[in-house]
Amino acid sequence: MSFFVTGAAGFIGSNLCDALLARGASVIGYDNFSTGAPEFLVEAKKSPRFSLVTGDLLDTARLAEAMHGSEVVLHLSANADVRFGLEHPRRDLEQNTIATFNVLEAMRANRVGTICFASTGSVYGEAAIIPTPEDAPFPVQTSLYAASKVAGEGMITSYAEGFGVRALIFRFVSILGERYTHGHVFDFYRSLKNDPSSLRILGDGNQKKSYLHVKDCVSAILLALENSSSKVSIYNLGTDEYCKVTESARWIADKMGVRPEFEFTGGARGWVGDNPFIFLETKRIREMGWVPEFGIREGVERTVDWLAANEWVFEKRV
Ligand SMILES: NC(=O)c1ccc[n+]([C@@H]2O[C@H](COP(=O)([O-])OP(=O)(O)OC[C@H]3O[C@@H](n4cnc5c(N)ncnc54)[C@H](O)[C@@H]3O)[C@@H](O)[C@H]2O)c1
Repeated sequence: MSFFVTGAAGFIGSNLCDALLARGASVIGYDNFSTGAPEFLVEAKKSPRFSLVTGDLLDTARLAEAMHGSEVVLHLSANADVRFGLEHPRRDLEQNTIATFNVLEAMRANRVGTICFASTGSVYGEAAIIPTPEDAPFPVQTSLYAASKVAGEGMITSYAEGFGVRALIFRFVSILGERYTHGHVFDFYRSLKNDPSSLRILGDGNQKKSYLHVKDCVSAILLALENSSSKVSIYNLGTDEYCKVTESARWIADKMGVRPEFEFTGGARGWVGDNPFIFLETKRIREMGWVPEFGIREGVERTVDWLAANEWVFEKRV
């Protein structure tokens, strides 16, 4: 099959491209390299079945042309930065909501029948039910990022209803692993490199979070794509455990061989939109036979190892 991957040069997108190519698929990667890295596509570029189009999702003509001949779109591109949404309110709207609309319109022009969408567990806001199932009561949104993803999900399901597109929506917890370039492990690693004696933790450190390794995220997406036949399918992706931010900080420090004093900025939330407890129910995807290979601690430690071997990523992200 031929796949079109938006955000192909990003953390998850590049891992997905490698997995698709390893299975014999043809892949067109589309990326504007705003947060992606050419280094992440070195493996993919070795395959004659991979081609890269450098382009922006807001460039509708280029997008529609690049998608020509594709059968499945894997829409990974986004502004994936949750924390700083309030500093640039238009960015989530443009990069997540309008860009998703552009992808859907390009699909319509090219008669592409299937879309997989990288949504987020953040759409559950401060969930009343934990672990949170896919059909949890619809919450109040707490971040512009999640709001823009909800809007994206809404448009995708409307296109499924109105234009017969098959839609698979994946709501992930935070993802860890090789090519990780944003999130708490990145921030803590960088901070401890600069000053191993202390670590500033946003909030009171008691926030409870669930994490998933990128390989497990990719395997779940591909399994669901092969096995789901519904017009619209929604899957939570996560491990069946969670940890406190302080626990994770300790694992990171131990792995780096440092013993910092923790300093807390205080409060149950580290920033506006930080959900104090994220833990998703994953029965739906598990019923397909998916079992994650990595636990949270292993995922955190592998991420530290990868960052240690790839410190060049810190120069890219200020
Ligand atoms: N990483 C996580 O923990 C996590 C959790 C939940 C959901 N997600 C979602 O998964 C997806 C991938 O996240 P990631 O962590 O790989 O992020 P990332 O920033 O590493 O990847 C995003 C990619 O999209 C590209 N891109 C951004 N805007 C673009 C545009 N306008 N046109 C073309 N390309 C553009 C970037 O250059 C980058 O390569 C995102 O949709 C994100 O919201 C990520």
